[in-house]
Amino acid sequence: MELQRKTVRDIELRGQRVVARVDYNVPLDAEGRVGDDLRIRETLPTLRHIVDHGAALVLMAHLGRPKGKVLPGMSLKPVAGRLSELLGRPVIMAPDCVGAETERMAAHLNPGEILLLENLRFHKEEEANDPEFARQLAAMGEVYVNDAFGTAHRAHASTEGITRYMKTSVAGFLMEKELNAFHTLLAAPRRPVLAVLGGAKVSDKIGVLKSLLRVADSIFVGGAMANTFLLAKGLSVGLSLAEPGSVNTAREAMAEASRLGKELLLPVDVVTARDLIPGSPTAAVPVEAIPADAKIFDIGPRSRELVYSACAKAGTVFWNGPMGVFEVPPFDEGTTATARALAAATSAGAVTVVGGGDSGAAIEKAGLAKAVSHLSTGGGASLELVEGRALPGVDALEAR
Ligand code: 3PG
Repeated sequence: MELQRKTVRDIELRGQRVVARVDYNVPLDAEGRVGDDLRIRETLPTLRHIVDHGAALVLMAHLGRPKGKVLPGMSLKPVAGRLSELLGRPVIMAPDCVGAETERMAAHLNPGEILLLENLRFHKEEEANDPEFARQLAAMGEVYVNDAFGTAHRAHASTEGITRYMKTSVAGFLMEKELNAFHTLLAAPRRPVLAVLGGAKVSDKIGVLKSLLRVADSIFVGGAMANTFLLAKGLSVGLSLAEPGSVNTAREAMAEASRLGKELLLPVDVVTARDLIPGSPTAAVPVEAIPADAKIFDIGPRSRELVYSACAKAGTVFWNGPMGVFEVPPFDEGTTATARALAAATSAGAVTVVGGGDSGAAIEKAGLAKAVSHLSTGGGASLELVEGRALPGVDALEAR
């Protein structure tokens, strides 16, 4: 919720060694270079503030899910390179995140110098929130700053355990910005509120859908999860991805929506193909007439118009999850149209918030990252926040 925590603004930094947790879990391209640097760019104000105020900076982050093994393909070295380019100053790469050599490097940092520790998840103790591991991380500095909103839903050694061993634990500017954006969305939104939810599984998103039914005035459900809703309405979805086991859940959500007087909108037409192959022949069909051998890969043109006009009427729009298989053109059109609808709504005065993950990537791909009010750097974290769950990484910080 709105940040009731101290931030880097509230503490003395001069002469300190600051240990900062950031979320640099970014995609790497085929050459091993950083593909999308949004998460890195968004931490720059915090990092600059720390070094410009005379502190030395030790950065901690994870990449991927190496599950306690040292996997060279998940090294943070490419991230150090990109960060150094963005900051215009050197970023020293540590060989590990704990151990004698890394401790020595951290101990010898001068004010203004930046050391990036190697992938925390190369040690299984990170995700296990191991107290001894957390203590070793804490020994790298005197002050702890958490700017890793995207990892705030994880109670790990670097996000939660470490705070037990630090005298000072505060939030960074990105953490503050994210929590304030979601507070505006959830606590005092400009009405009417529209939520656009996509993605593959009803079972993954049902908690969020139920919470959004309380906050939003209308919800559009797209992506493969809409197929399960179509089944729940008694329609056939051909050979499309759906969860017959979640049909009852979908039915309950529709009943709940009508009980609360909320609008639950579904696609009215879909784009189908025989196979998920780029450039394969496609057909846009009404949801009442999906052929038995067809697979749905996107929302159709009339559904895109529906999303567009719902966005145009909204005071606030929250979007999470793609409308189709947006990685494979032409099945990206529904998702791109949704990105454009949010951008248009923003220019017309609506507050628009995009939960990270795939919808964030889609907004960036469409070149519209700056055309929405808030593009979150957290996928899972933003959904847990919308669901009303506590974020352990935030709760562990000092109260204001
Ligand atoms: C994310 O990318 O959502 C965060 O970095 C958390 O990663 P995780 O889901 O592997 O814990």
